[in-house]
Amino acid sequence: GIATAAQPQAGTPAAAVSSTAREVTILFGSQTGNCSGLAKKLSKKLTEQGAVVTLSSMSDFKPANLKKVQNLLIVVSTHGEGEPPDNAISFHEFLLGKRAPKLDGVSFSVLALGDTSYEFFCQTGKDFDQRLEELGATRIVPRVDCDVDFDEPAAEWIEDVTRKLGEGNAQAAAAVSSIGGTASNETESEFSRTNPFHAEILENLNLNGRGSDRETRHMEISLEGSGLQYEPGDSLGIYPENHPQLVDDLIAAMDWNPEESITINKQGDLLALRKALLRHYEITVLTKPLIKQFAEIAASPGLKELVEPGQEQKLKEYIEERDLLDLVQDFQLKGIPAASFTSVLRKLPARLYSISSSPKATPDEVHITVRAVQYEAHGRNRYGVCSTQLADRLQPGDTLPVYIQHNPNFKLPANPDAPVIMIGPGTGVAPFRAFLSEREETGSEGKSWLFYGDQHFATDFLYQIEWQRWLKDGVLTRMDVAFSRDTDQKVYVQHRMLEKSKELYEWLQEGAYVYVCGDEKKMAHDVHATLAAILEQEGGLSAEEAADYLLRMQQEKRYQRDVY
Ligand code: 2AM
Repeated sequence: GIATAAQPQAGTPAAAVSSTAREVTILFGSQTGNCSGLAKKLSKKLTEQGAVVTLSSMSDFKPANLKKVQNLLIVVSTHGEGEPPDNAISFHEFLLGKRAPKLDGVSFSVLALGDTSYEFFCQTGKDFDQRLEELGATRIVPRVDCDVDFDEPAAEWIEDVTRKLGEGNAQAAAAVSSIGGTASNETESEFSRTNPFHAEILENLNLNGRGSDRETRHMEISLEGSGLQYEPGDSLGIYPENHPQLVDDLIAAMDWNPEESITINKQGDLLALRKALLRHYEITVLTKPLIKQFAEIAASPGLKELVEPGQEQKLKEYIEERDLLDLVQDFQLKGIPAASFTSVLRKLPARLYSISSSPKATPDEVHITVRAVQYEAHGRNRYGVCSTQLADRLQPGDTLPVYIQHNPNFKLPANPDAPVIMIGPGTGVAPFRAFLSEREETGSEGKSWLFYGDQHFATDFLYQIEWQRWLKDGVLTRMDVAFSRDTDQKVYVQHRMLEKSKELYEWLQEGAYVYVCGDEKKMAHDVHATLAAILEQEGGLSAEEAADYLLRMQQEKRYQRDVY
């Protein structure tokens, strides 16, 4: 039908056609690449339907162009304490600020990504949604807030928006798509987030020396035959399994039959309870919405009390570092059938690890650097789901469901000769091994400077021999290290940066790119403050000018962060 409708218009000039087609602007704000992936999907669908689509990262979009927008679709995630991703910061600031224009006549909708285990769930999406309404824009379809398992709700929002925008647009649709649309030459693997590749583990080594507090695994994983491709800066997604002990303890505490069949999705697929709890459900994290759902299905007065208005602080404290086993023991949840219990659980989400290899150096392989998370809380040992499985329960020869998470927000400069400054304490150093390996393979002439730190020089110097070789060969120009527990006073990477502030400032003046990888809350925050301090001290900038300078660097992609 559509193809025939296009025929009469086939000869008309493009300009005439596009004037009848809908114009849609899609803006995304993405830290790990999920939102940019969804925005691309949306763009493809709308383009096929004949819309004229402008797809852009928020940081590449000129706010002055807002007034020309007819349909504005926003796909954005939220980080930490309700903060926008790096490439959304300035647009967020602009739109929520006083300089934002009236947007009567603009239609919009927002897709928000987030995690219900954080207090300010989907806050950035909510901010945009509310503000666009205030500015006079009209909603196309209501905002959708997605939890970590975003595939289904996101697909539904894309479907709804596409349908709404397609109404009465069929003619133009076919005509425009016959002109060309956006041709994508990317060869895509059949494997993805929703269809992971079962990859063989080739190597699994502990990088820490005897006596270290830490256990950091260097893993080499085969991608042979998968067609999966990556670049330094991308991440590997891994679907883990829960700790068998925790699963068995939970089953015992609830007095369930481990072999009982339960339905694990909307399609009605069945799985034995024990397997389902191992592979399919998240059992190590308590979220507020989860507790509320349990309060409804359980005859537990204590739990009902905990979710009453006014108890927010108590609830917040309770869920901290506790898991489902605590919940069933503390509130005597025995008696809930396995099927209704699991029906309220979140799906076990994939974990992302920054890739530490270059495909040019090790084709068909991907390397990751994983610290085993283990700590004690509330009288029991707690284990990081994926990191513990990788460290304790997987050997070479075993397989693991994986996919590549492309991250356009953490990439080496397009110019191979541009200087780079890399800041990555702990496992944050992983992508910089990939960067340097890539630069070695491509024969880049650019200067490079690595700031690295961990607890002890003797036991925790990850990949020490490789950095030394790269220093010797000139692939790495300089390296400064901060071992925090070898001296009376703690020294961190930012202290080393400050000691070298003059040279660091010179590198920045020469156009160096700055990369930060690792802990978001403390390290990345402190490093950011230190960069600002260096700009003030060495460049004579005011605090406000320094903040602007860093924001501009971020917009120009000269300051990129892979933080978690
Ligand atoms: P610490 O554990 O001795 O406090 C990698 O984890 C390294 O990062 C460790 O040496 C750790 O030191 C250090 N680290 C902890 N907090 C930090 C912060 N706010 N900024 C930079 N490094 C930090």
